[in-house]
Amino acid sequence: MNVVIPAETATGETRVSVTPDIASRMAKSGNQIIVQRGAGAKAGFADAAYADAGAQIVDDAASAYGRAGIVLKVARPLDAEIGLFPQGSALVAFLAPLFAPEVAEKLARAGVTSFAMELIPRISRAQSMDALSSQATVSGYRSVLLAAEALPKFFPMLMTAAGTIPPAKVLVLGAGVAGLQAIATARRLGAVVTGFDVRAAVKEQIESLGATFLSSAPHEGAEGAGGYAKELSADQQQRDQELIAKTAAGMDAVITTALIPGKRAPLLITAQAVAGMRAGSVIIDLAGEQGGNTEGCEPGATVTIGGVTVMTPLNLPASMPTHASFLYARNVLALFDHLVRNGELAADPNEEIARAVTVTRDGAVVNEAVKARLTGVTS
Ligand code: NAI
Repeated sequence: MNVVIPAETATGETRVSVTPDIASRMAKSGNQIIVQRGAGAKAGFADAAYADAGAQIVDDAASAYGRAGIVLKVARPLDAEIGLFPQGSALVAFLAPLFAPEVAEKLARAGVTSFAMELIPRISRAQSMDALSSQATVSGYRSVLLAAEALPKFFPMLMTAAGTIPPAKVLVLGAGVAGLQAIATARRLGAVVTGFDVRAAVKEQIESLGATFLSSAPHEGAEGAGGYAKELSADQQQRDQELIAKTAAGMDAVITTALIPGKRAPLLITAQAVAGMRAGSVIIDLAGEQGGNTEGCEPGATVTIGGVTVMTPLNLPASMPTHASFLYARNVLALFDHLVRNGELAADPNEEIARAVTVTRDGAVVNEAVKARLTGVTS
């Protein structure tokens, strides 16, 4: 199969979908790898490394896409790119299908079979394909480095001849993949860490990382399908906001990671809670792509509210492209091997993983949740 690795075009995207070592593995199993010149440059992978791996380097997007059996990408394609796909070709990428369902519609019209990396089911068999987790690991790690950089204080406790410095106090809201990595990273830097989540199961995970679990009233029914969280009742949300406000007032840094699939991110830090925090403290809000967890945050920007720095970075994995791409490429290979046999898309469309990730097929949007969004959008 002709496997195309294009250069990413989304603003600020530095990752590449396939690294040279993974390209080599794909080439060895009989695929023709076509790499757009410069595709891996921002992630530290030179064209020469892809050529050594057996790939063919082509000069522009049109010559790459034009020969595609399958395109392996990081970000969803722009309209101009969708126009370059041959009829009957396939695409694997982060398609954000619930946030940008119109892209799925355009891919269907272009006759592209598309697979969304966000829709990999959270089952053991699919763990090696789980790009949301691999990229969330990067975000969680980077968020702590941003906090440490922005904080006018040390993270670790220091005992010096000039006096003793207490460790920084860090609160992590949302203890999924990104949150747990943030807790682990903040602990490695020596901070005293508290973690909070609506899912009771995470208490043990937070404690096993050496952090304290912030307990609130039990969140009945907060855990939905696949271990994801659900929206809380207004009462529960208000109780949590009050507890968080009280706790955040004593913190140096707060890192927020709370998401609910397909919904706006829950508001955890109210304007009042920000006002109650110490001047010089820092909030890193990782939920910016879904509106943020902090009142007054500006996705993609840093603002200062009453002396508190509120950073809401978007696409943090792109700030560490070499290892983000290293992990993503392995996720993509695992899915590719699952879907493609002897150069053909061969997975049974009713098999659990294939069914979950397929967004468009045979000229139509086939994912029910995406279809529902499209009806909502157009009616
Ligand atoms: P996510 O990115 O969807 O959300 C981040 C965290 O925010 C979650 O832990 C969620 O419970 C929490 N959250 C949501 N609303 C909140 C609120 N109002 N207050 C506080 N916290 C709130 O989550 P992620 O990282 O994708 O993990 C989701 C689930 O998937 C977890 O149960 C995780 O253990 C599971 N998982 C399973 C895998 C597998 O079996 N292969 C792989 C990775 C994750």
